[in-house]
Amino acid sequence: MSKVFKFLSHFHLEKSIERSLKVVNDSHYICNLSDVIRKYEDWKTHLPRVRPHYAVKCNDNINVLKTLASIGCSFDCASAGEIEKILSLNVNPERIIFANTTKFAKHIEFAEQNQVNIMTFDNEDELYKILKIHPSANLVLRIRYSSDKAIYKLGKKFGSLPNTEAPELLKLAKSLNLNVIGISFHIGSSCEDYEVYCGAIAISRVLFQFAADIGYNFRILDIGGGFPGDNFNRVKEFSCMINNALNQNFPLNEFPNLEILSEPGRYFVESAFTLVTQIHSRKITRDADGKIVDVMYYLNEGVYSNFLFIPLGPEEVIPKILSHKRTNEQFRSTIWGPTCDSTDKICEDIKLELLEIGDVIYFTNMGAYTIPLSTSFNGFPTTKIVYFLEENVVDSNKLNTEMFDFNFINDA
Ligand SMILES: Cc1ncc(COP(=O)(O)O)c(C=O)c1O
Repeated sequence: MSKVFKFLSHFHLEKSIERSLKVVNDSHYICNLSDVIRKYEDWKTHLPRVRPHYAVKCNDNINVLKTLASIGCSFDCASAGEIEKILSLNVNPERIIFANTTKFAKHIEFAEQNQVNIMTFDNEDELYKILKIHPSANLVLRIRYSSDKAIYKLGKKFGSLPNTEAPELLKLAKSLNLNVIGISFHIGSSCEDYEVYCGAIAISRVLFQFAADIGYNFRILDIGGGFPGDNFNRVKEFSCMINNALNQNFPLNEFPNLEILSEPGRYFVESAFTLVTQIHSRKITRDADGKIVDVMYYLNEGVYSNFLFIPLGPEEVIPKILSHKRTNEQFRSTIWGPTCDSTDKICEDIKLELLEIGDVIYFTNMGAYTIPLSTSFNGFPTTKIVYFLEENVVDSNKLNTEMFDFNFINDA
């Protein structure tokens, strides 16, 4: 059981770390569930036409899922396992989209048995698979429309070409008597190229017309994920562009019954999680005069636990030091993870003041694609999580804190 601290006032990160260090004597996450709730509220304010389906793959932490489920968020699931997890929270299957274009046959069976009826596809074989297992499913055609600027490009693997393959797939689906109800796309994860959403929305509109011409009556537009998850309030920027593109291409008066969906993952969870680590070992290299040349620090977290995204993409992390010593002198430093693998490196050649064994280093914006990817390589334990909730957020959302999987301590 983890512990949760409930605050009367606003969450303060460094104070929270100091509190959590009294409870957990190891690396751990600080999870501010109020942040997840605020993101949902911001979404509703700025994108009122778009219903978010949280992409469970991004972070399937049970308390995050319970929080989102209880405030009314819908879900994007990629497998039977994720569907089962969401259904176990008493979420109506209508609030789930099975957004995987290449599904295991037995997972389609599971979806069918559990009334999860909306699913995506992007190829012929998938259509025949669905025809055999779940012929009454409501299908959403995923098109390929991705940004070159996304850190994680999904277009190489998913999506049908909107001008050529997509119309052919729609014709095939029609001839098989399958019920296609809309279009989806994903511009790529970690992407600030918001104009791409506009292009994708415009091309979707063309496909809506094509579908109407061959006898379909589309009712879903799914604008996928890719929205930034840090806390710089960029929802204002991207929502403005997306709302304009939606109003231009799918005006409310022409499309009063259109359901606009999205599948944000990192948007909801990235900033809610901070990883708190400690230096457990250190190695100093000196020159012939005894002056420090460089310093290597070894943390109790690394690439095989919560930093697997480092070798996967060009994302950089910024180590923050709790209680700076505020010395002017800085040294070339490298930060390593704890395993015996030399690729287990978090940062290289950065300038840091001289730190000691036991010093605390924390990393913000660590909630996306970290926890579900972490391993126990070299026998290191799973990272604990300490949760925080602000009382005003609990009250205004009428949250039943009994639902959470942790002890509730009123520590305010
Ligand atoms: C189909 C699908 N939807 C949604 C997401 C979530 O994307 P993001 O975390 O960038 O919002 C992903 C990420 O890989 C995805 O593959």
